[in-house]
Amino acid sequence: MKKILVTGGLGFIGSHTVVELQNEGFEVLIIDNLSNSTIEVLDKITSITNKKPSYFNIDLKDKVAVQQFFKENNVDGVIHFAASKAVGESVEKPLEYYENNIGTLVYLLQEMKANKVSNFIFSSSCTVYGQADELPITENAPVKPAESPYGNTKKIGEEIIKDTTKISKINAIALRYFNPIGAHESAKIGELPIGVPQNLIPFVTQTAAGIRKELSIFGSDYPTIDGTAVRDYIHVVDLAKAHIIALSRLLNYKNKTSFEVFNIGTGKGNSVLEVIQSFEKVTGKKLNYKLVERREGDITAAYADTTIANTELGWKAECTLDEALLSAWKWQETL
Ligand code: UD1
Repeated sequence: MKKILVTGGLGFIGSHTVVELQNEGFEVLIIDNLSNSTIEVLDKITSITNKKPSYFNIDLKDKVAVQQFFKENNVDGVIHFAASKAVGESVEKPLEYYENNIGTLVYLLQEMKANKVSNFIFSSSCTVYGQADELPITENAPVKPAESPYGNTKKIGEEIIKDTTKISKINAIALRYFNPIGAHESAKIGELPIGVPQNLIPFVTQTAAGIRKELSIFGSDYPTIDGTAVRDYIHVVDLAKAHIIALSRLLNYKNKTSFEVFNIGTGKGNSVLEVIQSFEKVTGKKLNYKLVERREGDITAAYADTTIANTELGWKAECTLDEALLSAWKWQETL
């Protein structure tokens, strides 16, 4: 049985990926410092899969603890989610973001290299493309200067990994996620936003639940189908499955180069108003919303060209926007 370290394994995407890994017969070790998750998620994962993953409360900024972990545990691969992800906060606290997202990545790669662990999956983002000149966005679209320290950590992170694969036996795949949404069908795990949600779907579900009075739609004058911004919303379980496929590609020596990148999205763009219509249709809830100014730093439209992920990985998103939104709502109802 292959042993896989999942950093940030109690977070939103991490927890769904742990479930899929266990379902596929991997033994999972989780490192999570609970900075944006809770220990209850470990029990929830266990109740879904009937297998308790090993859990280590380690902060990856603690280099000695990371060294110790790799000395004591032989793992076959690492899926690295642990990172800070709030765009606005990253502008306020750039050094914390660089330390937390870049410093820890360096420690992990150093220990992987020293301990001959050669398979690495990195949580990257479509944010590296900025506003792409052409849609849909292919992996060959140029990486643009980052709009925020958070975005920069994904861009720099990819560069650090690529440089490392050139001088070591490490093979890596960066998955550039579009907009992950939804929750597990069991409604036992999902996205746990702390404070006022910044992302669209948690704000939508909290508004429908009466926790927020009104959803503000940021911008209605974009050059899109209805004036609101367009994104590629992908169900988190589809996204989680892409990690298992990418990992297996490395474990089975199927990768073509030592560093590969893949877009992980549905390939379909939806406007904010389309999301709201879909949400209202599947839940029967009426959403209170108003149109306001654009949000600073937002782009007009982004959706993936998934041809390479489809053909090279043999992976394709299966869930519809309706299904993803319904799962997000079922999860909200449990909170
Ligand atoms: C955001 C981040 C991106 C990050 C991603 C992670 C910004 C500018 N970008 O992407 O770097 O990788 O989250 O999930 O923060 N919207 C509203 N009202 C709201 C919230 C959002 O209208 O209350 C709109 C936004 O303007 C956008 C769409 O909904 O058009 C999606 O927003 P969001 O979920 O925040 O994702 P992104 O902005 O695409």
